Amino acid sequence: MIEKPREMSTFILRSGVLILSFGIASEIVYQIYKRVNTKNKGKRRKFPKTEVLFFPDETVACKSYFTDDYGCRNSNCRFTHEENSLSKLFTYLMSARTSIDICIFVITCSDLAELLIQSHKKGVVVRVVTDNEQVDVPGSQIWKLRKAGIPVRIDNSSFFMHHKFAIIDQEHLMNGSFNWTQKAITGNQENILITNNEDIVLPFISEFQKLWLKFDPNQN
Ligand SMILES: *[C@@H]1O[C@H](CO)[C@@H](O)[C@H](O)[C@H]1NC(C)=O
Ligand SMILES: *[C@@H]1O[C@H](CO)[C@@H](O)[C@H](O)[C@H]1NC(C)=O
Ligand SMILES: *[C@@H]1O[C@H](CO)[C@@H](O)[C@H](O)[C@H]1NC(C)=O
Ligand SMILES: [Zn+2]
Repeated sequence: MIEKPREMSTFILRSGVLILSFGIASEIVYQIYKRVNTKNKGKRRKFPKTEVLFFPDETVACKSYFTDDYGCRNSNCRFTHEENSLSKLFTYLMSARTSIDICIFVITCSDLAELLIQSHKKGVVVRVVTDNEQVDVPGSQIWKLRKAGIPVRIDNSSFFMHHKFAIIDQEHLMNGSFNWTQKAITGNQENILITNNEDIVLPFISEFQKLWLKFDPNQN
């Protein structure tokens, strides 16, 4: 009978320790979850109203770091994890929810092509118009895009399809001097303007639509 209170208090002590350690464990799990989650949210960048990106970047941004859910797993990564113009371009493209329409003179940058393919696989509708003179340049990513199931229409006129713009979710325009090539990223002086100003975006949407129909292979 005298033992009872002690048993009772041991019981209470044990339960207390158990509850406390459970609490600590779940707090740790929550903190880890929060860190991982905000890390990826941080990279999924919200579109600004207007922004201008300038190239060249000094170093090439690591596509995995900025676009993969788990970041870059290469401990000897030779690309940069610092934010720069290309990393912003990556994250803007990746933030597309419904559509990406692109008119581009030449695309040889495989990271950008892969981002389009990733978006396409996620269910984003990706459409590309490009120029016939550039389809077969060395490193052209056009066949890779087509193989992945992205529709690409080609300006087969003797004139250049010289536009370089992308429309994201029918809302944001990215246009500039920038060919999607390695040289434009780390060599050339280039610019990209990003805007959601309707006065600018809407004409580009109708221009894209016009070219998309014009270069429909079944129509001509
Ligand atoms: C981007 O579009 C705007 C609006 O049409 C235009 O003023 C600007 O010159 C374009 N930039 C390039 C580099 O084509
Ligand atoms: C980039 O585009 C320009 C035209 O704006 C073209 O003259 C040039 O050859 C292109 N650069 C590359 C590397 O293809
Ligand atoms: C472009 O391709 C269409 C069919 O896809 C063809 O009818 C047209 O003649 C071609 N134009 C040129 C300039 O090759
Ligand atoms: Zn990396």
